[in-house]
Amino acid sequence: MAEHHRARIEFDPRFTVADVPERLFGSFVEHLGRCVYTGIYEPGHATANADGLRQDVLDLISELGPTMVRYPGGNFVSGYRWEDGTGPKEDRPRRLDLAWGTTETNQFGLSEFMKFCRTVGVEPNMAVNLGTRGLQEALDLLEYANHPGGTYWSDLRRSHGDEEPYGIKLWCLGNEMDGPWQIGQKTAHEYGRTADQVARSMRYIDPTLDLVACGSSSRGMPEFGAWEAEVLTQSYESVDYISAHAYYQPREGDFASFMASAQDMELFIDGVTATADAVGAKLKSDKKINISFDEWNVWYQNAPTGERDEPWAVAPRQLEDVYSAMDAVVFGSLMITLLRRCDRVTAACLAQLVNVIAPIMTEPDGPAWRQTTFFPFAEASKFGRGKVLRVNADSPSFDTKAYGTVDALHSVAVANEDGTYTVFAVNRDLEHPLTLEVDLGSLGGLADVTCSTLTDADPNAKNTLEDQTRVAPVANGDITVKDGVAHVELPAMSWNTIRIA
Ligand code: AHR
Repeated sequence: MAEHHRARIEFDPRFTVADVPERLFGSFVEHLGRCVYTGIYEPGHATANADGLRQDVLDLISELGPTMVRYPGGNFVSGYRWEDGTGPKEDRPRRLDLAWGTTETNQFGLSEFMKFCRTVGVEPNMAVNLGTRGLQEALDLLEYANHPGGTYWSDLRRSHGDEEPYGIKLWCLGNEMDGPWQIGQKTAHEYGRTADQVARSMRYIDPTLDLVACGSSSRGMPEFGAWEAEVLTQSYESVDYISAHAYYQPREGDFASFMASAQDMELFIDGVTATADAVGAKLKSDKKINISFDEWNVWYQNAPTGERDEPWAVAPRQLEDVYSAMDAVVFGSLMITLLRRCDRVTAACLAQLVNVIAPIMTEPDGPAWRQTTFFPFAEASKFGRGKVLRVNADSPSFDTKAYGTVDALHSVAVANEDGTYTVFAVNRDLEHPLTLEVDLGSLGGLADVTCSTLTDADPNAKNTLEDQTRVAPVANGDITVKDGVAHVELPAMSWNTIRIA
């Protein structure tokens, strides 16, 4: 039997990190694979509503609890003409999508996306094309979307049936402009100047916008750090956020390092924060640039791409990763990192929402179901609201090739708005269960402790079309409360949501 480990945490409601930002629980819908078509939008589906949105998917999205959705890409946006997705559907052009090698039918566009956002109750986060396009088209789009009426673009929107302006507040200035794969890739200097000019001109239309400049596509990019420094040197006073993107997967069977992927995310956040603050200091600015972690997930980037090899297909199966129990635990640990650092990561998007590296899967004409990664996100969005507290932790550790010795326990505590507390805790050790002692001393006598745990004896267990509910969190009965301390048994490789009321 595996040796048993112990860890202890304590926190105090008086010592906070930050309020949990509403935008921390964002997700992402890209015109990629089946995220839009046969994902959220399938007019012929048995559950489709009058707007062609699948009700079975809408129900799962509402259970998942995203607060904001980024759209329409991703790499896709760098070749996208936003006007193609407006007006009568029969007049919309079919176009080659060079980013993903597919045919885009444009049957879903801005108006449909806004209906989707209103139906689900999420904030739109709109990206503009700074790859094949630039300043003028960004301004046209903003005028079409947000101006009430009386001008060419705003009246065009009204003539398309959308009388009221969309009021989109959050905008991404391009996507991954540092990436050699990006259509219209730019140098940091070129992009920084463009972002500054686009941002300043967009603010002439609406000074209250929140604007996101592109940071590095990953911490591993050759220019990481230097890119952020140059982009922000050019655009510091005109943007609000710098973006960060990170995807994790096991490499060469090194699962211990994979379990500790959050270490990389933390270093990423530290590096971007330090760089942004250094630029701000040099410019003698009082302003702080925050991070929009607008793509994060587990992604098996060298997995077979399914139907991607068929040239110019419409909505083929692309990036349809099927996630394991282990993936969900790593995913939960990434979510914990975002919460722990929400003083500077004030927006984030799980990439993506449906079918494409997604928590929700669908079959065309068929069912929709939850992937393993669905659960940590849904629990964090439901119970991770309020104030993040500083946690003092004492944890056993394990060795990794990629990150050295790391703590087995990865946790965060949240003081919820209703006076209860939630601890999200991952046991990252693949072999050793852990007894977690939670000191309840500063919680005013609260002692009703419950826990939901996601784990599996088979780390590779997955939810599939054939077995849609194989992996799910279960109530963890292994809890005792004694002398103001809760003892919660955390299985090896587990995600746990501990509620204290
Ligand atoms: O989310 C999938 C892709 O990953 C996005 O299109 C791109 O921005 C990133 O490289």
